[in-house]
Amino acid sequence: MRFILALLSFLLFVLNSYSEESLGKRLFIKYSCGSCHDIDRKVVGPSLIDIAKRYGSSEKAIEKVARLIINPEPSNWPGYAYMPPFKIPLEEAMALARYVLVEAPKEAQKKKKKNSLEEDLDLELQMH
Ligand code: HEC
Repeated sequence: MRFILALLSFLLFVLNSYSEESLGKRLFIKYSCGSCHDIDRKVVGPSLIDIAKRYGSSEKAIEKVARLIINPEPSNWPGYAYMPPFKIPLEEAMALARYVLVEAPKEAQKKKKKNSLEEDLDLELQMH
């Protein structure tokens, strides 16, 4: 039993240490994208998961979405408000697009895994 607990703690540690922030995530925070976009919930704008589902995660998709961050096309998302254009360098927009299409969906999955691991760990601790 102790071994399983140690193993679970170790896994949690590994999952946590993965959460070092990328350039894309830091820019996402810097430009307050999060005031309109949540990872898995529709807010003012579509959720990052919904955007990732629409475009996929290829290099081509990353560049396309980078250009849409600089020059939004509200007609792509009927029923939503308009996203303001961000006059930022293409490299920054690429990092942001990579965060939206590649990193955020992974982050969501990790969060799910971590939550269920933490629940398991709580259960284990309660039983002893
Ligand atoms: C004031 C609210 C607001 C902010 C701030 C905002 N967005 Fe948006 N975003 C929206 C809305 C609304 C839409 C959907 C309608 C549209 O595209 O205009 C959208 C759409 C998008 C899309 C999909 C584009 C498409 O055409 O498919 C991406 C990608 C995106 N946002 C990324 C970002 C990033 C990255 C930031 C920060 C640099 C950001 N947004 C900041 C409101 C916002």
